[in-house]
Amino acid sequence: MSNPPLRIGVAGLGTVGIGVIRVLSEQSSMISARCNREVKVVAISAQDPNKKRGLDLSNYIWYSDPLSMATDENIDVVVEVIGGSSGIAKDLVESALNNKKHVITANKALIASAGLDLARSAEHVGKTIGFEAAVAGGVPIVKAIREGLSGSNIQQLFGILNGTCNYILSEMRETGRDFDEVLGEAQDLGYAEADPTFDIDGVDSAHKLAILTSIAFGCEINFDSIQIEGIRHISPLDIQFASDLGYRIKLLGMARKTEAGIQQRVHPCMVPVSAPIAHVEGVYNAVVTEGSFVGRTMYEGRGAGEGPTASAVVADIIDIALSRNTNLFLVPTVKLERMQVAPVSSYIGSYYARFMVTDKTGVFATIANALNDNGVSMESVLQRGRSKNEAVPVVLTTHETDEASLIRALEAIERSKVVFEPPRFVKIESF
Ligand code: HSE
Repeated sequence: MSNPPLRIGVAGLGTVGIGVIRVLSEQSSMISARCNREVKVVAISAQDPNKKRGLDLSNYIWYSDPLSMATDENIDVVVEVIGGSSGIAKDLVESALNNKKHVITANKALIASAGLDLARSAEHVGKTIGFEAAVAGGVPIVKAIREGLSGSNIQQLFGILNGTCNYILSEMRETGRDFDEVLGEAQDLGYAEADPTFDIDGVDSAHKLAILTSIAFGCEINFDSIQIEGIRHISPLDIQFASDLGYRIKLLGMARKTEAGIQQRVHPCMVPVSAPIAHVEGVYNAVVTEGSFVGRTMYEGRGAGEGPTASAVVADIIDIALSRNTNLFLVPTVKLERMQVAPVSSYIGSYYARFMVTDKTGVFATIANALNDNGVSMESVLQRGRSKNEAVPVVLTTHETDEASLIRALEAIERSKVVFEPPRFVKIESF
């Protein structure tokens, strides 16, 4: 092999950083053969050099300050797996680009918030930023959309983008356990973010959706316009009712081109059990795209954890080793369009709603009248259990309506005092 080795510096030795070192060392001859050059980690950086990490790290140059690593002339590629949208992670990426190094990151928060500026910097210095690992872990969805589907005009995409939430919802459905217990388990398995509220409140999914929307539609990233709702309020009761009605509850990220502009949403949805995405369970992620000529395509795989995320980082390293370059967001940054954001009033769909009510005459009439007053048409109604003194659940599904009208109806029902707690609602998506 006459080509010079590609020299890697890894900043951050958590789950993903250690995984990257492991994937590169355990498969070094295979990777070198694929790159036609040696790929080797030469330097590492983390806060605590004495922490037990289960790997012999003594052969690597140790940097306690990652910013010093970014200036090391013996490093070609900086892998940033520290995390966080600002602070040291951002400083490191900027510094690495300024020092004319390629960057690879698994940091969706950073790309979702600063991806455009970083892409401009990368273009300016003729280097690349690989962020395959930032979206859907081991699923090569960035490559699939940016390269495999570059001949198609994508109109919509949707997917399960957070392994922790999908794991929690799957376990709650399969075992009837409650939310907090299953969340603890997902954290122990290394799926959750350092701050798990990012997972369960939908923020992590929204970071990933913002990136996918940009590479699919060729528009500037617009994280702030995403309508975000997490899974905290999903109860075992809703999961059971969803099953009874023929649905599963999934936290989906969805981006759609409409005449009113681009819709970007992250929220729990009921999807029919017959839809393939309903069967994506556990830590698995999936993304479905719909575009001109090709129609619908679907990608599925592990969305979190050491091996899958490290595998995506290493795929980006191999692209750099082979000088395979592509526009970071589908087109050069100067050609990215400003996103025209669709107003929330353009959101139309069917909904599931649950009310905890007293089992007495007139309750149904109150609910029906409020829906009627707001132009929301019921499709089906169902009551479970009978109790004179305790709350019983009433659930209904609606025909197509706009979300604002449904919310007005639910507010009126809450004000009427026939309910013990605020009504819950979940959008039904019939993919
Ligand atoms: N916390 C994320 C998840 C990890 O659960 O999907 C991968 O981004």
